[in-house]
Amino acid sequence: MGAELFGVDLTQPLGDATFAEIRETLHRHHVIVLRGQPASLSPERFLDFAGRFGRPEPHVLDQFHHPTHPDILILSNVQKDGKPIGLADGGTYWHTDYSYFDVPARATLLYSIQVPKVGGDTLFSDQEQAYADLPEATKRRIDGLVTLNLYGNRDDLAPESRTIAYPLTEDQKAKRSIAVIRHPLVRRHPHTGRKALYSVSGTSFAIEGMPDDEGLALLRELAEHSTQPRYQYRVSYGVGDVVAWDNASVLHSATLTDPRYARTLWRVTTKEVQRPVA
Ligand SMILES: [Fe+2]
Repeated sequence: MGAELFGVDLTQPLGDATFAEIRETLHRHHVIVLRGQPASLSPERFLDFAGRFGRPEPHVLDQFHHPTHPDILILSNVQKDGKPIGLADGGTYWHTDYSYFDVPARATLLYSIQVPKVGGDTLFSDQEQAYADLPEATKRRIDGLVTLNLYGNRDDLAPESRTIAYPLTEDQKAKRSIAVIRHPLVRRHPHTGRKALYSVSGTSFAIEGMPDDEGLALLRELAEHSTQPRYQYRVSYGVGDVVAWDNASVLHSATLTDPRYARTLWRVTTKEVQRPVA
């Protein structure tokens, strides 16, 4: 898992054949890294690139949207005039993006602008390999099951914690999905057809048709299996790095950063065109 691509300059037009190769690399390796893009990479060009994976969907936390390009979410621990310029500490637990929506995220892209002296890595975990390695009896038991999902981190609901999903305003609560969202526990990749565990950590809190404690125990057992170090890939960022990951085949987790060191990234999350299928 994980591929670094060289020779792609996102400030220049990208031909269809090159993009097709990039997309195929993403599907094969789940996470791609394009190191050291020029500082002149504009919000427009970054969005152009992201938009080729899917339709960008602005994040519900609208106070952290890029001022002129709302499809970009600013992730930052920097404060300006006593106010945060971006979302700090987002997603520091294993999850897949937008799994609290019926139609969840396709690729998520980050563009690294300010890099802290230490920390700020993103961890990824290969959910296709984790599924493939399960005993056949377990596969038979879980194929066809449906998870129930809600916005937030099922394993940390304490409002003062740094690892919860960011609290929403009343207005944002109204816009976000408040319904329980059903997803296949084992999903087929929308492009390759390969099977992967899906959303076994993060927003899932139960399994349809199972007593709550039993469903949660099964989800936790699968999450423990699928996030073992042998399935993980870690990205450390340099200035200008662009990273994209495939939400259908990986879980990811941010790591907490030391608030003394400035860190800023732009994020674009793109949507699938249809609901996940088993
Ligand atoms: Fe995320």
